[in-house]
Amino acid sequence: MLLTWDGKRKPDWSDYNNPRPAMLRETFGGGGEGDCDLRGGLLFEGDNLAVMARLLADGYAGKVQLAYLDPPFGSGANYVRKIRLRGDQVGRAERDLAKFENGSMNQLQYTDQWSESSYLQFMYERLWMVKELLADNGSLYLHLDSNEVHAIKLICDEIFGRECFQRQIIWRIGWISGYKSAARNWIRNHDTILFYCKDPGKMIFNKTYLPYQEGYLRRGSGSSSGKKDRPAAGKGYPLEDTWNCSAADRMDSIQIKSFSKEKTSYPTQKNESLLERIILASSNPGDLVMDVFAGSGTTAAVAQKTGRRWIACDANHIAVQTINRRLQAIIGASGDEIAGANPSFSIWEMGGAGGDEGGGGGGGGGSIVSVDCRRDGADVIVAIMGYSNLELPKLTKTDWRSLIEWVSLDRNYDGRTFNVYLSDIPKDIKQYVSGRYTIPNVPGGAVIALKVIDILGHETLWVK
Ligand SMILES: C[S@@+](CC[C@H](N)C(=O)[O-])C[C@H]1O[C@@H](n2cnc3c(N)ncnc32)[C@H](O)[C@@H]1O
Repeated sequence: MLLTWDGKRKPDWSDYNNPRPAMLRETFGGGGEGDCDLRGGLLFEGDNLAVMARLLADGYAGKVQLAYLDPPFGSGANYVRKIRLRGDQVGRAERDLAKFENGSMNQLQYTDQWSESSYLQFMYERLWMVKELLADNGSLYLHLDSNEVHAIKLICDEIFGRECFQRQIIWRIGWISGYKSAARNWIRNHDTILFYCKDPGKMIFNKTYLPYQEGYLRRGSGSSSGKKDRPAAGKGYPLEDTWNCSAADRMDSIQIKSFSKEKTSYPTQKNESLLERIILASSNPGDLVMDVFAGSGTTAAVAQKTGRRWIACDANHIAVQTINRRLQAIIGASGDEIAGANPSFSIWEMGGAGGDEGGGGGGGGGSIVSVDCRRDGADVIVAIMGYSNLELPKLTKTDWRSLIEWVSLDRNYDGRTFNVYLSDIPKDIKQYVSGRYTIPNVPGGAVIALKVIDILGHETLWVK
């Protein structure tokens, strides 16, 4: 059965034949000297239609083993992230400043408002491209909710073929409380993940089991047989298509948890346990995993941790910043320990997508950073002395570091691509960046670039 809507049309493949350029903005790994392995993770900033057209033109057709997509659900909502001043020393005076009532403010990340036909057309074109990128043994997991899943199911049947539909996975969100439980109705408590493959005969599938709980006994074959109950042997229960629905299978959404170490403050962030289940089942180490609605980068994070290669893309500059910081922290903490994982990635910006040299929508507008940079023998000492931004409160009592999210340094900047030599990423909201960095001097007096990213996502590049 074919679904139709006003203006239905297949993707404009001329985009694919004449793709927009992708500019290399930043690299991480390879010692920060510009020799990052460009075969590591690929992070794109831009509309995923243009990015997928670029990937197809660059020879990625048929190369992706797993695509996980968590697009806007057509919910009609706006999604914001909460911005907080860093540190636990922020005094009442600062907290009461305009915009920072109760110590935080909301910043819009993306909107999810569409006409019905524009949403369907948006998804239709992109799903065709995803299919082109999938390998013969590849799979698609498409995360939606009841708003659009039934219409999109028909679209996926058209694009992939009904025989390639595998499962409709019900992911229970977790215990719902507060206003969400006030509806005079059944309480809404699940998302739906459509699982398709490119070829049922070839798809990768590593069957997953829930271990038997302690004390579980396997029944004997009845008293007449004389056999006794005995401890269960074997792998456990094979997982069903309803997830997070029993005490033995806990993977609650981090949105409903008041505290989770995974939280990035990006709205609609998914939990790593969900992505881990999908990635382990439908890909193998070394395979290529793609998420072109990447948000906070959960897919890339889990792919990196499980030794897969990854491609991530988001149109929102703050999302790309969040993914950058998250992946740097993961690779920095694990080094080369994860078997098969490439400890480097590069960030690309689609031409024509807007943005300044400093790297896109965040811009450095209205920021002033003062830096003291001195040579000391074989070292260079770079010290941030202060920071302010027009949109942020002027901090009087507290440290300017309350305004800073993280800092990166390139010790040999070429004026185009920022090659991360070191990054200072505080572990949690209570901690500050150090603001003082000692790095070995590059012989011949190289250009040093310092990138300061504030809590609103403004990026300021200081160069000397
Ligand atoms: C539901 S969120 C994804 C959340 C993600 N799964 C996570 O764990 O954080 C959807 C994302 O899609 C992005 N997005 C929407 N339209 C896009 C487009 N045309 N191209 C690229 N990204 C897009 C939004 O900016 C948003 O970050």
